[in-house]
Amino acid sequence: MITHVRSVALGVPDLSAAHEFFEKHWQLDLVGADSDRVFLGAGCQDNHVLRLRAAAEPRVDLLCLAAASDADVDQIAERVAAHPLGRLVSEPATCTDAGGGYRVRFLDCEGRTVEVSSRVAVRAFRPVEPGESRPTGISHVVLNATDLLTTSAFYQSIFDLKVTDWVESIMVFLRAGTAHHMLAFTRAPHASLNHVAFELRGIDEFMRATGSMTKKGYLPLWGPGRHGVGANTFTYFQEPTSRFVAEYTTGMLRIDPDHKWTPRVYPANAQTSDTWGVASPRDEAVSASLRGCPDTGLWQPPPM
Ligand SMILES: [Fe+2]
Repeated sequence: MITHVRSVALGVPDLSAAHEFFEKHWQLDLVGADSDRVFLGAGCQDNHVLRLRAAAEPRVDLLCLAAASDADVDQIAERVAAHPLGRLVSEPATCTDAGGGYRVRFLDCEGRTVEVSSRVAVRAFRPVEPGESRPTGISHVVLNATDLLTTSAFYQSIFDLKVTDWVESIMVFLRAGTAHHMLAFTRAPHASLNHVAFELRGIDEFMRATGSMTKKGYLPLWGPGRHGVGANTFTYFQEPTSRFVAEYTTGMLRIDPDHKWTPRVYPANAQTSDTWGVASPRDEAVSASLRGCPDTGLWQPPPM
C-alpha cells in the first residue's frame, strides 16, 4: 500500500538560508524552484525529497507518502473519510505540480497535513557513487505526538502499517515494508516534527557526511552513534534558522516479510539510544531540539 516516504515539505522563515543548508551542506540536489518554493532531490528517482517554502514561522507543510497504485490512494481516501478522526483536505485527483501524479491530502488525528500519491513522474538522477556523502533518499520520519496510542492506531489503520518495536510507552516504530521503521512517533507535549532521516549509501559514506558537515562548522546535535532499536546509525544536525532537525543514517535492520516478528519493548536507556556508546549522552538540550516548537502548520493545510 505505502512504499516509502516520498518527501517532506517544510515552511521556513529564511528560505535562502534553509536552501543553502540543505543543498550546499546537506548535499541534496536542486531540482526546481518558483517564487516561494525550492525543491530538492537526492540520489533516487523521486521528483524531490524535500520541499522548502517561505513561511512566517517554521511549520511542517506536508508529510508525503508514496502509494503503490491509484487504487491504494483511493482506498486510503475512503478510510480517512470513514475515520472519525480523519479529515480529507482534497479528494483524490490528478495533479500537475512538481512531478504530478494522483494525490489525496488529509489531516491526521492531530492536524498534520498528509499527502499520499501514486504515479508521480520519476526524475533522472545521478546515482550516489561509493565514497560520496550525498543522501540516497529519505529513510524515515519521526513525529512528536501528544496522544501516542491514538496517533499510532490512526496511522496503522489508514496505511496498514505494522508496529515493529516500542521504547517503553514513549516511542513506537512503524513499518510498511522491510525497513524496521518508515515512521515513528514519540510522546511529546505537542505535535511537531521530531526529525527527518536521510539515507546514506553505507557506513563509510555516513561517516564522511558527518565529517563533511562538521568541517563546515555544523556540529552534530547528537551522534555519530548507532541506535539500539532498528540498528541504524545516526548523526543529528539542526538547520540553524528553522531549527528543524535532520538525521544522516544508514544500516537499518531489515525484516523479512515472512518472519513472524513480535514487537519488543525496549527500556529507555543509554544502550537503547546508542549501542556504540561513543555519542555524548542524549541530554535535555538534545531532547528539547527534537521536541521542537508546537507546529504552527497543524490544522492549516499549506496553500499548494
Ligand atoms: Fe531517526
